[in-house]
Parts: sequence; structure tokens; C-alpha cells
Amino acid sequence: MQAGDRTDPKAVMRMLNLEIVKNYDELSDRAAAKVAALVKEKRDAVLGLATGATPEGMYARLVRMHRAEEVSFSSVTTFNLDEYESLPPGHPQSYHYYMHRHFFSHINISPQRINIPLCSGLSVEAFCLDYDSRIEAAGGIDLQILGIGSNGHVGFNEPANSLLLGTHLVELAEETIRDNSRHFDSPGDVPRRAITMGIGSIMQAGEIVLLASGKGKARAIADSLSGRVTTAVPASLLQLHPRVTFIIDKEAASIIEP
Ligand code: F6R
Repeated sequence: MQAGDRTDPKAVMRMLNLEIVKNYDELSDRAAAKVAALVKEKRDAVLGLATGATPEGMYARLVRMHRAEEVSFSSVTTFNLDEYESLPPGHPQSYHYYMHRHFFSHINISPQRINIPLCSGLSVEAFCLDYDSRIEAAGGIDLQILGIGSNGHVGFNEPANSLLLGTHLVELAEETIRDNSRHFDSPGDVPRRAITMGIGSIMQAGEIVLLASGKGKARAIADSLSGRVTTAVPASLLQLHPRVTFIIDKEAASIIEP
């Protein structure tokens, strides 16, 4: 990085909605409140959903709100960002399993309205095109929830010289495999490939909410909000979106607001 090469982070933050919250609980409260507000306002909302440790608290709160009859998901459609290529839906580390365990089994969503990448029967190319057509046919994603990888990935769009717009098969970065190995018996068990929504599908969402918690995300957050847009930090492209909110806790904000 050269001198004068960096936009004042404060200027970037003024352009985006940045919410720095105290801790993970507050982050989960804010994220769940945003989803619930949309679904109350638009019963047939289309949600783009993420897995991983970060949104678990948000899902738990949405389930609680549903049980309290505060929110109904009966007309909601969902599209998940990604799935490991080689894991069957019943595998405990698959994102199918995760979504049912944390969210879908506990709410009144119609199974036909749940979309998670899984290409059984079709070629990968045909499946990916079909996934994008399904998003389009649903009217596009109203609200996309994102986590962020410690390397700045969103979905499984890993840092690269160029990024693909549509849903595609991707080789996971070594850093991602290392990060995700905590969920598997050994790093060798982590699938090397995944299907992910592309950066174009993500950027077409009407609204995006990115969640980040913990010191491990501080560097990725700083690089995503630096005023520089680069495919080396895929989340930095979100700076171009007209309606994006970063909800991050103090630890994830520790580089931008030391
Ligand atoms: C998961 C996904 C990933 C995760 C990211 C952070 O569907 O798209 O981009 O959001 O790897 O994962 P956690 O939240 O486990 O740190």
C-alpha cells in the first residue's frame, strides 16, 4: 500500500451503515430484528441465508420470535449461499443439516420454498444456472445475510484475481479449510470444494447485512472497509452496494476503531 492510497476509513464508514455493537448477543439481536422487520412488512420476502458460527445466535432469536408468534415464515422463500460439494444433506457438517438444525425445523417455512445448493442428478453447470434462475424467478433476494471469512470471503467467493458473478463450483482457499477444520475431526476431512452463489447474485440483493464477531475477523473487516475495492478481499466489493449494513462487534471492529 502506498501513501495516499487509502481512503479515510471514517469517510467509508459514513458512506455505509456501520453498526458497532457491544458483543455477540447484541449482534444477534440486531440481525434477528432486521430479518423479522422485513418478514413482518413483506410476508413473501426472499431471504438469502448464511451458515457458520456467526448467524447461529440470529437463528436462535428468530426461532424464539416465531414460537412467541411474533413472526411467521409461511410465505417466505430462502436461498442459502453455499454448500460443500461432496457432503450429503444428512451429513452433520453439511449446510443442509445446519440449516434444518438451527432454523428450518423450528419454523413454519414451507419445504418447497427452501433452496440450498446441492447438485444431485444435474451437471454442476446445469445446477448452477438453475439456481440463479430460481433466484430470479423468486423476484430476487430482498435481504441477504452474510458472514465473512478471515480472508475476506463472502459466501465461498474466495480471494482471487477475478470473481464469478453467478453460482459456481469453487476450490476452497487453504485458509478457509484451516478455519473450518474446527468442525471436522481433522483438516483432511474438510471438503476441498463447494458450490457458492457468485458475487453478482449477492450484489443484486435489495439489501445486504454482513455480520462479523471476534478478533479473528478484525483484519478482514478493516480490509473490507478501506475505501479500496479489490477481488483480493471479496467483501470489499460490498462497498459498492447502495444498501449494505455491517453489524460487527467491538472485537471485529478493533482495527478500524482501536
Ligand atoms: C457460510 C458462508 C461463509 C461464512 C464465513 C464465516 O454460509 O457463506 O462465508 O459466513 O466463512 O464463517 P463463521 O461465521 O463460521 O466465522
